[in-house]
Amino acid sequence: MTKPLTMAEHREAGEPPLIYLNHAATSWPKPPEVLAEVARCLQTPFFEHGRSTAGGAMDYPSATRDAIAGLLHAEEPNHFIFTGSATDSLNLLIHGFVKKEKAPFHAITTELEHNSVLRPLHTLAGEGRLSLSIVPCQGGYVTLQEIKKAIRPETRLVVMTHGSNVLGSLQNVRPVAEYCASNEIFLIVDGSQTVGQIPINLSEIPAGAFVFTGHKALFGLPGIGGFYLDDPEAVTSVRQGGTGMDSHTLTHPQDMPQKFEAGTPNYPGIASLLAGIRFIEHRGQDAITNKCRGLTVLFTSELKKSPEISLYTPAPDLPVISFNIGGLGNDEAGYILAKAYNIITRTGLHCAPLVHDRIDGGKGCVRVSFSHFTTPAECRTAAEAVREVAEGAGR
Ligand SMILES: Cc1ncc(COP(=O)(O)O)c(C=O)c1O
Repeated sequence: MTKPLTMAEHREAGEPPLIYLNHAATSWPKPPEVLAEVARCLQTPFFEHGRSTAGGAMDYPSATRDAIAGLLHAEEPNHFIFTGSATDSLNLLIHGFVKKEKAPFHAITTELEHNSVLRPLHTLAGEGRLSLSIVPCQGGYVTLQEIKKAIRPETRLVVMTHGSNVLGSLQNVRPVAEYCASNEIFLIVDGSQTVGQIPINLSEIPAGAFVFTGHKALFGLPGIGGFYLDDPEAVTSVRQGGTGMDSHTLTHPQDMPQKFEAGTPNYPGIASLLAGIRFIEHRGQDAITNKCRGLTVLFTSELKKSPEISLYTPAPDLPVISFNIGGLGNDEAGYILAKAYNIITRTGLHCAPLVHDRIDGGKGCVRVSFSHFTTPAECRTAAEAVREVAEGAGR
């Protein structure tokens, strides 16, 4: 197997420097503070809540619950549950909610969703546990009116994204949350593309649950994610095990956060999340959001100059830009950008198949996404490269 080259080796080999534009999949690089905190976490015995008294070691889970509650303006740090990913969170919440609702019921989701929402719902629909409606988006947005059109007397669950990982459109979830809260419908919001990317105030969004992932805009390691659950009674835990408390009883504790957390936590992942959140707070969430918005405007305005390029969202709210180049498959375009320009994008369906039926005939597209670490120079170089590929394809 050939060993991948480091960035320095790429430069020595006279290749163009690597430009990583796939932050909507996973952010890279991670801030040095995150790497240092993970190392620190692994260099000390773990502080195990209720299990031991590792003198002097850091209680990462408690500190991180406080940190994420602060970042998202949530009242109850203990209502934040750590999981392996947003996918893990969505599975725990969707299956846990369905387990609690005894009779089959009606659920609503949207065509913007990631497979981590669509597949659990589709599986449960196939098992006859729920019937499912999928509401359309207009110009990248799902409105409360569209959701209301799908509501039935037996609707109990709505699952929707806060930000599309294909179109970069930010959904107005607050009115949906208010409507669901006043109609006894459990709303799960998938914040995978928004938490850490934009300011979020959970005290103003009365959702039943809000899902996040650690390895994207929160700058944490892969393998850490979580959710905020407003009412712990709303969902049954589908996992049981050791919690370091009430070990004499075979009944799993129902206190938060133990109700949904069993087994040894991912301490290094949680430590990475803590450092990622501190990094965001140190730089300023608004500053990060605005910087990424500036890059998005710069990139889209460059791409709009080329008639061969179809841009699916002319002005994305999030730093996620999807496009296709006339006469070129999205996989071919991504391959040329990687091989000839050393620019890493993401191609294909981005695990959100339904939105592609609406925008590109189900064929998929090239996606470029930015983080705080993307520079305007990288952004300009990448836009020039995309335009060059497009002009070449047009000839
Ligand atoms: C909107 C959305 N939901 C869910 C996920 C899944 O996230 P994770 O990798 O943490 O499971 C992603 C990541 O690709 C996403 O973009």
